[in-house]
Amino acid sequence: MSYEPSTVEICLTLGIGAIIALFYRSYVDTLPLQGNESVLDFGSGSGILSRHIAARLARGGGHLTCVDISSRWMKVIQHTLRGFHNVTYRLGHITRIDLPEASFDTILTHFVLHDIPAAERPLIVNTLARKLKPGGRLILREPQGHGLDLHELQALTTAAGLAAQDFEAHKVWLGPVYDGIFHKADLPQLVTPEISHSSDVFSINLIYTSDHS
Ligand SMILES: C[S@@+](CC[C@H](N)C(=O)[O-])C[C@H]1O[C@@H](n2cnc3c(N)ncnc32)[C@H](O)[C@@H]1O
Repeated sequence: MSYEPSTVEICLTLGIGAIIALFYRSYVDTLPLQGNESVLDFGSGSGILSRHIAARLARGGGHLTCVDISSRWMKVIQHTLRGFHNVTYRLGHITRIDLPEASFDTILTHFVLHDIPAAERPLIVNTLARKLKPGGRLILREPQGHGLDLHELQALTTAAGLAAQDFEAHKVWLGPVYDGIFHKADLPQLVTPEISHSSDVFSINLIYTSDHS
């Protein structure tokens, strides 16, 4: 599967992004950030969201890491965020780049998971959970009705040792979305969860490094 955008898609995204920048900014303003954290923006794309996070963190001494698998989006975001000195860029598949374990206070994933094949999602969410510091938070926004439903989201996060702190299925200016904040629960480290899925059933078998049953 290729995530490389066409030139038309890049131009459209940047054009629309400039028009709706205020909505993205107001979303970032609602996020529970102190400003001094280490934040990972997973699937940062064009950076229309990341630029507001970078600005918030720049004021508080925090740091932003932008990860994207697309080299074209990576070039775009490096240009968009060129004025910020508190941003690191990492190109590659989130499960294959060598980000340190337990190193982020907050991970943001905005409109990314639904775009990823269902079979890949468990490993991706598990990887995100491993990259969070103990007590760290995963902040997630996904569109409703685009191939990722509530039950799968619950199964994916639970399997990764993430506990829902706040979860809402509601309508925002972008349309109906799931908004969730998940805490990295105080659980033993998960090895790869065994997952089987058919079109409408998800079953996850949790395997931990130590037996806490
Ligand atoms: C729909 S875009 C969302 C971009 C941005 N978060 C936003 O809301 O504007 C999804 C992004 O995730 C990236 N992506 C998809 N799978 C990825 C993976 N496995 N590792 C890193 N980035 C990935 C894509 O290249 C794309 O830029």
